[in-house]
Parts: sequence; C-alpha cells; structure tokens
Amino acid sequence: MAVSSPLLALAGCDRSDAGPARRPADVAYRVGRETGQPFPVLLSQRDRPAPYSRPLPLPAPLRPVSSTATEDVYELVARAGEAQILDDVATPVWGYDGQFPGPLFESRRGRTMRVRLRNELPVPIVRHLHGGHTPHRHDGYPLDYVVPYDGGDHHLHPGGEVHHGEFEYVYPLDQRAGLLWYHDHRMDFSGPQVWRGLVGLHLHRDDEEAALGLPAGERELPLLVCDRSFGPDGQLLYPSLDQELRHTPGVLRDFADGVLGDTVLVNGVHAPFHEVRQGSYRLRIAVASNARHYRIGLDRPPASGEPFWQIGTDGGLMAHARPLRTFLMAPAERVDVVVDFSGYPVGSRVRLTNLSGGRGTTDLVEFRVTGPDDRPVWRPPARLSEIERLDPAGAVRTRRFSFTKVPTAAGPTFQISHHMFSADRVAARPRQGDVEIWEFTTDQQHPVHVHNAHFQVLDDPGPLAWKDVVSLGAKDRRRIITRFDSYRGRYLLHCHNLEHEDMGMMANYDIR
Ligand code: C2O
Ligand code: CU
Repeated sequence: MAVSSPLLALAGCDRSDAGPARRPADVAYRVGRETGQPFPVLLSQRDRPAPYSRPLPLPAPLRPVSSTATEDVYELVARAGEAQILDDVATPVWGYDGQFPGPLFESRRGRTMRVRLRNELPVPIVRHLHGGHTPHRHDGYPLDYVVPYDGGDHHLHPGGEVHHGEFEYVYPLDQRAGLLWYHDHRMDFSGPQVWRGLVGLHLHRDDEEAALGLPAGERELPLLVCDRSFGPDGQLLYPSLDQELRHTPGVLRDFADGVLGDTVLVNGVHAPFHEVRQGSYRLRIAVASNARHYRIGLDRPPASGEPFWQIGTDGGLMAHARPLRTFLMAPAERVDVVVDFSGYPVGSRVRLTNLSGGRGTTDLVEFRVTGPDDRPVWRPPARLSEIERLDPAGAVRTRRFSFTKVPTAAGPTFQISHHMFSADRVAARPRQGDVEIWEFTTDQQHPVHVHNAHFQVLDDPGPLAWKDVVSLGAKDRRRIITRFDSYRGRYLLHCHNLEHEDMGMMANYDIR
C-alpha cells in the first residue's frame, strides 16, 4: 500500500435541501492504494494491533426480556459506547446496546420476535433485518425513522413513518433457517452509521437444519467481517461531508466509489485467534463491509481434499454441499462452511485468510489446533435441504435494471435504470405469488440486494441455493428468478455498496 498526500479537495453532492455542507473538522483524510482494489483505501493514522494477539470474541445470544408460547420480546438501545479495538486506546462507537458489533440474536422458525429499539443517539436511525421476510412497516424502510429520544434538529425526508424515540419491530420469521444480519438503513446515511457500529448478526434456526447434526455449540462460529480505519486518537475515520450526519449526505470525492478501510476486523477484533480441536467446525461468515470484497481461503489447505464444505449461503442451506478451496464474498453476502481440522497435527496454526487483501486486510482468524476431538468428523449427506428449482419457463415476465454511476457537476450519483432513489417512484409492481426474472447489468462492481424476497441466480453452476445478494462485476449481467410469495407492500431493491446506496442507488418495488 502506498501512502499518498493528504486530501485537500472537498467535493460531493449535496442533494438534501437543508443545512450547509459541514467540512470534516481537524482530520486530514489520507488515501492509499491496495493491490487488486478498484478504488482508494482510507488510511489509518494509528497502529493496528499485531495480528493474532487477541482471542476471537464470541458473544452469547441476547436474552429476551419476556417470552410467551409463540413470541420473544427483546429490548435494544442504540447508543454511544466504546470498543477495545486498538491496543492502547478505546474507540468510540455507535452501537446497539453500545456494542460493536451489536448483540447476537438467535431465533427459531415459528416464533415471532419483537425488538423494542430505543434511540439514544443524536441522529435518526432505522433498523433493517437483512434477509428477513418482514411486513413492510417493520422492514426498516429508509424513511421510517426512529428519531432520537431527545429530539434534536435533523433533516427528515418525507415519505415514511416517523417514530419518536422508539419503535417495536415485529419479525414473524416464518422462513427457512439462515444467517441474517441487522444494520442501520437510514436514508442517505447508512454508510457512516453502519461504519460507526450499527450492525450485528442474527442466527435463524429451523427443524430441517437441526436434523443434519451440523457442528454446533462451541463448534459453530458466527464471524462478522468488516473493514475500518482509525484516526490519530483511535476514533473510527469515515470521510463524511457532514461529520455530524445531520444534513448533508455523501463522502469526499476520492471515496465516492466506496469507502475501503485498511484494517479488517472479525467480530470487532483485528485478526483474532481461536483454539480448536481436531474436528469439524461450522463457520458462519457475513461480510458487513461497506464496499470491500473478499476472497477467502486457508493459508495451509489440508493435505488431502478441499479445505471447505460449503453448505449454505444468504438464504440458508443449499440443496447439497460443495467442496471449495476459496470463495468470493461481496458486501452483505453470507457463506456457511464446514472446516475439518482433523488432518492438522496438534500445535498447528491454520489461518483463515483474505487472499485479495493487502497489509492489514489479509489476516482474518488464526485457528490453533489444541488437541484431539471427541466427536466424529462431520460428513455432508447427499442432500442438505429441500429447495424447489424455479423454472424460467414459469416466469410471467423479465424486468431489467441497470446499475450505473452518473457524474454530475456536484459529484457522482449512483442510479438504477437512470433514476436516483425517490420515495415516490416505484420501479416494479410484481403481483404476489408471481414468478419473475430480473436482469441486472452494471458499469462497475455492484452487489445487488433485494429485500423481502430470496431468489435463485440463473446460469449459476453451483448447488441450488436461495440468495438475497448477487455480486456483479464491472460490465456484468446476471439474471435472478424469484417468486414473490412473502408480504405485500413496498420494499427495496438496492446496491449494497453503502456509499452507492447513500448516493441514490436504491429503488422501490411494490408487491401487490
Ligand atoms: Cu442489508 Cu437494504 O440492506
Ligand atoms: Cu453499487
């Protein structure tokens, strides 16, 4: 990574109609280049901890405050807190319960989850359960703000439902098992608010999965992967035009294509280690980066066979397992793999690695093999999950969406089919129950996400699987097929590069 000069030029697009652009105070943002990354990296101004010096944090699932035969109620407070990420200084964060990442949620199909969210931050927030099939009012639409408990002066776009101080999100969770995650989705400011810490994991279970005897308990490791950069005082750096996140959306022009941090964290720690036995472990990986893509592998593949059995993806278990050597992950994607450490001698150190990373962004987790396991190695059955293959011949139509960056005098915007997001525009009105094909095309890399509808990627040679993000490269074209069998109402389709999203790359679709 090469260091370049401090950034002086400030630019961006101010498309809010209130408030002056505030310049980031007292921090000069420095850009670097990392081999293989399509755009500049935001450089830290403080040393990151030595890799493999701290254990992997594995938080216990959050406990409900009350439960009935069919429901569990949780309380969550968005507030300022501190995270111990660097060696000698605490990092201020905005987190759910003040933590970064937020608490782990665990749910079971058939039980409704209620999450009472109280906002003690100085800005409006929105909670979205990514991968959830959720009634519109609870989905975390970007204009359905939960404004601060204390009030305050904020620019709120019209078009949603405003909640004062708190809101109870109801998640029926009548859906197959899978790794979901939750994060902020505030209009114009998702990028900085997720970056500051408003993100967490959610494991959803069902009977089909439970019957497989997958590695569980301490042999199941939820791993939230993201990249961040740190300022001279250990603070999280993010090149917002308005550091108070009140009025003006957007980032300094050098970072308009996406903010890449120079330090990768797993469960909030840079390059942690974790002790394992010589047996099978299930890694449930979610990429919560704003813009960074990963290629993940082991630094020492086992002597025989491939290191991973992939068993699942965004929408839970795949039809059958596949052996993998490495795998790509775009922002918001999830991968579920089983790793077998039985071939490694006691004392081995095996590293989960980002093969497309540079300094600070390569090391993920070091597994230290401590002794024999008392359980048999997990072997995949011929079939993992019952998945209906959606037939393109049954699709009632094909819709096309282009994802493109469009320069304007004020700075770049990001558009879907030639429109920036507007609450009033509906890009598609599928009928509930219909099967449709959606075709996406791109100019540059865009990870495309659809709310409230899992889909199958057409022309994909892998095992049949349900996805909610499809990663497109530059000048790419992918087709997905889905049946709109979840709730009716207005939902989002958007790019999950959060800087693109904040600069307009979202569209409404309405299930009738
Ligand atoms: Cu992960 Cu619309 O979000
Ligand atoms: Cu994009």
